[in-house]
Amino acid sequence: MSNKIQSIRGMNDLLPEESDLWQAAEQVLRSTLNGYGYQEIRMPIVEKTELFKRSIGEVTDIVEKEMYTFEDRNGDSLTLRPEGTAGCVRAVIENGLLRGPAQRLWYTGPMFRHERPQRGRYRQFHQMGVEVFGLEGPDVDAELIAISARIWKLLGIKEVTLQLNSLGSAQSRARYRTVLVNYFKQHLQQLDEDSLRRLEGNPLRILDSKNPDMALLIAQAPTLDESLDDADRDHFEQLKRMLDQMDIAYEINPRLVRGLDYYGRTVFEWVTELLGAQGTICAGGRYDGLVEQVGGKATRAVGFAMGIERLVELIREHSSFEFKASPDAYLVLAGEAAAVSGLKIAEQLRSAVPQLKLLSNLGGGGFKAQFKRADRCGARFALVVGDDELEQEVVTVKDLTGELEQQTLSIDGVAQLLASYNGKRSL
Ligand code: HAM
Repeated sequence: MSNKIQSIRGMNDLLPEESDLWQAAEQVLRSTLNGYGYQEIRMPIVEKTELFKRSIGEVTDIVEKEMYTFEDRNGDSLTLRPEGTAGCVRAVIENGLLRGPAQRLWYTGPMFRHERPQRGRYRQFHQMGVEVFGLEGPDVDAELIAISARIWKLLGIKEVTLQLNSLGSAQSRARYRTVLVNYFKQHLQQLDEDSLRRLEGNPLRILDSKNPDMALLIAQAPTLDESLDDADRDHFEQLKRMLDQMDIAYEINPRLVRGLDYYGRTVFEWVTELLGAQGTICAGGRYDGLVEQVGGKATRAVGFAMGIERLVELIREHSSFEFKASPDAYLVLAGEAAAVSGLKIAEQLRSAVPQLKLLSNLGGGGFKAQFKRADRCGARFALVVGDDELEQEVVTVKDLTGELEQQTLSIDGVAQLLASYNGKRSL
């Protein structure tokens, strides 16, 4: 049969050879966040289209060009989530989570954007996101940055830099908007079609343009820092002082505006040059006005999200992060009697050794073939059970690295040996 059905462009399978690294990386993210007292929240993948329009902004690339929007059978307009913040805000409002103390939350899962696929940019991609609700000061901004910095360290990622900017309060941005519109109006003939449209609707977005013909015009545009008020400046200065204290280096980038409209005050991105054009592995900032905009009571908020595909590529290609995913042992079952008793022995070992990674030979096969399988799966030990072993209630243990002599041990003895090696596995 020809006519094979293929996957959708920009939406990839995660194959077993990759999933070990994904799991190890996700485990580091999860345990780090849990260690800071953040809790997981899981939101639906589909939300009402209106939610994204209202939060990300109507005049943004995501909402104008990239959303997977469809009508369901009731005629409601729904959208596959292009990011997690909007859904998280909806969820905390709807479930009354903003009534009590501050919420420190994280989530992970697939996001969908109809962008042009290339290295590091996919139409289905995965984020680990963090959102904090109900805290106003720069200390939480600093903690979020510290969390991401710790994650890089734990994953052995070195060549990333932190870019930082302040977009100011809503009032400061309104002042800046006027300054910016005046500037661009003086250079109308240099604006492309997108920018002309954005001039009235969302002039800050023009700064985000990737059009090389406009690069100079944008580079010479007035920057937002001149429009910041005292409270904005104070917030930003304090944040910088906290980062200095923690020895977290940053670059101030006055052009950093982010591609989503909900930000105000702190914004940041972690970027690397090692991944080509798509070098931002983590990005976020404050969005103090969004909860109210989505219909909740005014609540300060800040967060970030990491792109897991980019993170995993960086780890795979450029980090010393070590994780061992191969099995501790492979159980070789020689002969019919062993094939019958083998599963029981495997269960005994699993009960005795927590976290044991043991592959039991399935589907029969000769002695040689089974050893080949043991080698191929990367197991440290081959545990051999044949008629003799069954009779004497022992197991022959062969170290496939050749480091230890072959030995014959009782089931308890094997369990002890495996327990002492299994502690060295990081998964
Ligand atoms: P974002 O900058 O749109 O922010 O995305 C965050 C990260 O997701 C990016 O830095 C990148 O690593 C990854 N990413 C985005 N698009 C793609 C893609 N097409 N393919 C692969 N990776 C991608 C947000 O989504 C905000 N919700 C972050 C946030 C949370 N701000 C506050 N809280």
